[in-house]
Amino acid sequence: MCLPVFCAPMCLHKRALLRAGLLLFLLHLGACLDDCVLCIVGQPVLLPCLYPELNTFGNFSIEWRKNDQKLLRSEWREDGNVEICSLNYARIPDDAAQNGNFSLELPKVHPKQDKMNFSLFFSAGENEATQLCALCLRVAASFSAPELQSEEEADGDETTFLCLSGGGYPEPVVSWLISDSLQPPEGSVRTLAEPHPESLLYNITSYLTLNISKDSSVTCIVENLSMNETLTATRYGESRTGVVGRASEAMWIFSTVLCVVVGIMVMVGVVYQIHLDRITKRRKKENREEQRGYKRKFQFIEETEAMTEDKKETDV
Ligand SMILES: *[C@@H]1O[C@H](CO)[C@@H](O)[C@H](O)[C@H]1NC(C)=O
Ligand SMILES: *[C@@H]1O[C@H](CO)[C@@H](O)[C@H](O)[C@H]1NC(C)=O
Ligand SMILES: *[C@@H]1O[C@H](CO)[C@@H](O)[C@H](O)[C@H]1NC(C)=O
Ligand SMILES: *[C@@H]1O[C@H](CO)[C@@H](O)[C@H](O)[C@H]1NC(C)=O
Ligand SMILES: *[C@@H]1O[C@H](CO)[C@@H](O)[C@H](O)[C@H]1NC(C)=O
Ligand SMILES: *[C@@H]1O[C@H](CO)[C@@H](O)[C@H](O)[C@H]1NC(C)=O
Ligand SMILES: *[C@@H]1O[C@H](CO)[C@@H](O)[C@H](O)[C@H]1NC(C)=O
Repeated sequence: MCLPVFCAPMCLHKRALLRAGLLLFLLHLGACLDDCVLCIVGQPVLLPCLYPELNTFGNFSIEWRKNDQKLLRSEWREDGNVEICSLNYARIPDDAAQNGNFSLELPKVHPKQDKMNFSLFFSAGENEATQLCALCLRVAASFSAPELQSEEEADGDETTFLCLSGGGYPEPVVSWLISDSLQPPEGSVRTLAEPHPESLLYNITSYLTLNISKDSSVTCIVENLSMNETLTATRYGESRTGVVGRASEAMWIFSTVLCVVVGIMVMVGVVYQIHLDRITKRRKKENREEQRGYKRKFQFIEETEAMTEDKKETDV
């Protein structure tokens, strides 16, 4: 929808009104603000114009003009008869005379309507038409996110960067920055802006050709001030490209996992070592106690072994 810029409905031509005897309007004389309504391509437009007092005139007519060309005309009669003729789907609310809402509605904004003046003229009886509302239309469309490409030139260290964006209106301002702050040298930038023959939307291609170290970053800026829109695309130097970024991220994850695994292994090892130490300590203690009865025990083992062997032989 159109951004909110309100037509000053009180903007009147005092002398013309006095001539027309429309003293009623004197109550509303005020500053005459000719404002522009900013609309987005393809969206409907509403050009506001409010005059609640008009329905006090028995027979009257209004006319919306686009740059002095008739766009819509409507006539109201005392007997309630209404005649409306319009061009290009322009319309006003059905109850315009009752509510005094003569706002012009256009179904779709096209860039060719940019900077056009729209005005509403009123006439009653034999008096000449009086302009009541005047607005201008500003048309805008967003550009696509810029796409930045680079091409190494065959000879020397020169690199050409390409910045592509499209589908916007009006023609934007394209600029470049090197390493986030430096303006590129004069003559290194060439920008082509081409409006589509029908839609009038712009495709832009900007070239930046210069000797640049592979570590420098390059930024392309596409600006449309009335849309209050600034689009940028940045290509980082080789040491900071996306691939390296992803690779270092993978390395980082790998080393973290490795650290954790090694940490766990060390801890397990330490715990196991402590466990082993305890066992050996206990063994040593036991051994010392056992050594005294070792001989007897050894004999005992030999005896039992002999017994089992005997048993095996008998089994066979
Ligand atoms: C309004 O128009 C009709 C027919 O055109 C006419 O008969 C009538 O007198 C007009 N009224 C005024 C107030 O001019
Ligand atoms: C005037 O009419 C338009 C279209 O119908 C509507 O969007 C707008 O809100 C109306 N304005 C007022 C003040 O009623
Ligand atoms: C619209 O109006 C402004 C000032 O009112 C004028 O400077 C401009 O030329 C007009 N544009 C057209 C297309 O008539
Ligand atoms: C702009 O680019 C679009 C898509 O790439 C294409 O369809 C269109 O024809 C181009 N317009 C102009 C004026 O080159
Ligand atoms: C880039 O450097 C080459 C030599 O390496 C030189 O011939 C060329 O003129 C330079 N271009 C610019 C734009 O400075
Ligand atoms: C942005 O778009 C508006 C559309 O009305 C235009 O007036 C303005 O000049 C544009 N800004 C730039 C920087 O192109
Ligand atoms: C543009 O946007 C900035 C912040 O988003 C705001 O401060 C500024 O007033 C805007 N300018 C216009 C012309 O709308």
